[in-house]
Amino acid sequence: MRLTKYIADSGIASRRRAEELIASGMVAVNGVTVTTVGVNVDPLHDKVSVNGRLIKPRARVYLLLNKPGGYLSSVKDPHGRPTVVDLLKDVDERVYPVGRLDLDTEGLLILTNDGEFMNLMTHPRYHIPKTYQAWVKGIIDDKDLKALGHGIELEEGMTAPASARMLRINNGCSLIELVLYEGRKRQVKRMLKAIGHPVLALKRTALGFLTLQGLAPGEYRHLLPEEVKKLTAMARGS
Ligand code: URA
Repeated sequence: MRLTKYIADSGIASRRRAEELIASGMVAVNGVTVTTVGVNVDPLHDKVSVNGRLIKPRARVYLLLNKPGGYLSSVKDPHGRPTVVDLLKDVDERVYPVGRLDLDTEGLLILTNDGEFMNLMTHPRYHIPKTYQAWVKGIIDDKDLKALGHGIELEEGMTAPASARMLRINNGCSLIELVLYEGRKRQVKRMLKAIGHPVLALKRTALGFLTLQGLAPGEYRHLLPEEVKKLTAMARGS
């Protein structure tokens, strides 16, 4: 493992800052000061210290949560409202939600302590499809579905092409599925409001190949290493 990554994984500095620490002679491997960036270390056997203090990389954690309504997608709320982190019972690492679901939105949310993974998944350049099911007011027709698919004019510009299909009609309301390849703030609600069908209930049902299968609202599981790998590759478009 690269020494810079080892330091970044310990949580004391970003990779860039780690390079600076190394260059300034503050990092030692097995007691010997290292000043060249690009050195590799064996995380199981080598002892790395920064400024004389031994550091250790933290375990990286990736969780898939079925968020219930009424929980904020943040770590702490200044107003004391429940957050998604309150739902995690046996997780010692401090994890952060990857992107946001609105307070009342339910469904698939990833949490992690891996900053690089977080950047990759939330960067606008990377497009992992996000699937939503929305109950909306009124009956959605073919014209609406086409408009949602082609793009909707929002205040900051047109939305990217998406796919939309009708799932059910009940009591003058429609349940539709919308797959988006971008993630703007409150995008689903704003798109549907713009075409005259305000959202009554919203759930994210999938992110790429990940679904909520086996997870009741409020439940979560760890992602498998191969799922993390696959998501990373998808986000990079490889
Ligand atoms: N779009 C929204 O409008 N709300 C969400 O929570 C997620 C997507």
